[in-house]
Amino acid sequence: MTDAEVVPATRPLRGTVSVPTDKAVSHRGAILGALASGTTVVRGYSPAGDCRSTLYVLRALGVAIEETDDAIRVTGWGERGPGESGGPLDCGRSGTTMRLMTGALAGFPVKMVLTGDPQLLARPMERVAEPLRAMGATVATAAGGVPPIGLRGGKLHGIEYDMPVASAQVKTAVLLAGLRASGPTTVIEPVPSRDHTERMLRTMGATVDVEDGDGAGRRVRVRPGGLEAAEITVPGDPSSAAPLVVAAALVPGSDLTVAGVGLNPTRTGLFDVLRRMGSEIEQGTAGADGEPIGDVRIVHRPLHGTTVGAPEIPSMVDELPLLGLLATQAEGRTEVSEAQELRVKESDRIAVLVKGLTTLGADVEERPDGFVVTGPTRLHTGYVNAAGDHRMAMTFAVAALIASGPVHVSGMQTIGDSFPGFMATLQGVR
Ligand code: S3P
Repeated sequence: MTDAEVVPATRPLRGTVSVPTDKAVSHRGAILGALASGTTVVRGYSPAGDCRSTLYVLRALGVAIEETDDAIRVTGWGERGPGESGGPLDCGRSGTTMRLMTGALAGFPVKMVLTGDPQLLARPMERVAEPLRAMGATVATAAGGVPPIGLRGGKLHGIEYDMPVASAQVKTAVLLAGLRASGPTTVIEPVPSRDHTERMLRTMGATVDVEDGDGAGRRVRVRPGGLEAAEITVPGDPSSAAPLVVAAALVPGSDLTVAGVGLNPTRTGLFDVLRRMGSEIEQGTAGADGEPIGDVRIVHRPLHGTTVGAPEIPSMVDELPLLGLLATQAEGRTEVSEAQELRVKESDRIAVLVKGLTTLGADVEERPDGFVVTGPTRLHTGYVNAAGDHRMAMTFAVAALIASGPVHVSGMQTIGDSFPGFMATLQGVR
C-alpha cells in the first residue's frame, strides 16, 4: 500500500488491543544469540520488516535460525565466529541491523560489505565507523559517511568512548565489539539511551557495569568475554503502542488499553510527557526476563502544551512526530529542541512533520533542532506525504482521525517496517 485515504473517527477508541513485539529487543535477541554459544530462544520475535532484515543478514553469515509461530531459535557461532557471506550483506531499510552488525562483526577476522535499500544508503554511518576504527577495525564508508560499509575486522583493543550523540545503536555497536577486545570497553553517553543491550548482555553472562555520572554522562563498561545462550521473551513494542495511545489521547471520549507493552523506563518518555500534558495514563508493571512489561491505559482528557529537550529525547526519540501531532490539539505552545537526530532517521522527520501538519492547518514552526507547535487548531482534510517513513505514515494516519474530513496519505509503503497490520488495528479500535 503506497497511499491511503484515512477518514475521521466517528466514535471514541475503546477496548483492549495488542501491538507487535519490540523491534529493538528482537534485533538484540537475534544478534546476541548469534554471538553466543548454544541455542538462544527468542519468544515473540518481532514480525517487523526491519527484524526480518536482521534474520536475513545472520542467515547469510551461516547462522542456523529456526522459526516457529511464537519463537525463533538461534544457534550461535560462539568462539568459531561467522562464516563467509559470499556477497554484500543486505540490511534492507534497517539502520539498527547495519549499525549493530558492524559492531558485532568487528572483532572477527572477516572482510564484509554491509549495504541496503536506497533509504538506508543515505543514513550516517561514521558514528559507528569512528569508534570501531579506534578499537582497531578497518571500516570504510562511502562519500559523506554513508553506506555501503566496508569492514575488515580483527584484533581489537578496549577504548573509552565519549559518544557525541545519545545513540543506543552506536552504544550497542561499541559494546558488542568490546566483547572481543583485549581489555574493557567503556561508552560514555551524554544522556541515557535505551538499555536493552546492557540488560541482555547480563542475562547472557557478560560483565557490564553502569555508573550514572553526576551530570558527567552515564558510563557503561563491558569486559571481554563470550556469551551464553538464553531464553528471551520480547514484550510489546512501546513505539508501536504509541500511535494508538496518541489516537486515544486525541479522540474525545476514548478509553483504550494496550496490553503487554514493554515499559523499560528508557523507552517510556512519551507516556511521561502525555501525563504532563494532562492525559490520564496508567501503566501496570510486571517483570519479564529483565524487561518490564505491563498494560497501558489511556483516557482522553484536555491537553496543554509542554517543553521537551535533551534529557527526554532518547526515551521518546521515535515518538517525537506523534508529540508534534498531539501538540496541535493542546492548549498553548509545545516546544521540542535538541532533537536534530530526527533529521537523519528514515526521513528528515522534522521537515516531513512540519510540512504535513502545516498542510492540515496546524500552526507549526520548523527549527533546525526541533519544532514549535501552537494549539489548539482544527485539522482539516488534505494530501500529506509520509516520505516512505513508517513512523510518519502512522503519525499522519492518526492525524486523520481528528481532521474535519478524509486525509490522503502517500508514501505509506514501508509501514510494515515496524507495524505490519497497523491500518487494520487502527480500524479495529474506532
Ligand atoms: C534504536 C535506537 C534509536 C531508534 C531506533 C532504534 C535501537 O536510534 O531511533 O529506531 O534499537 O537501538 P539511535 O540509536 O540512532 O538514536
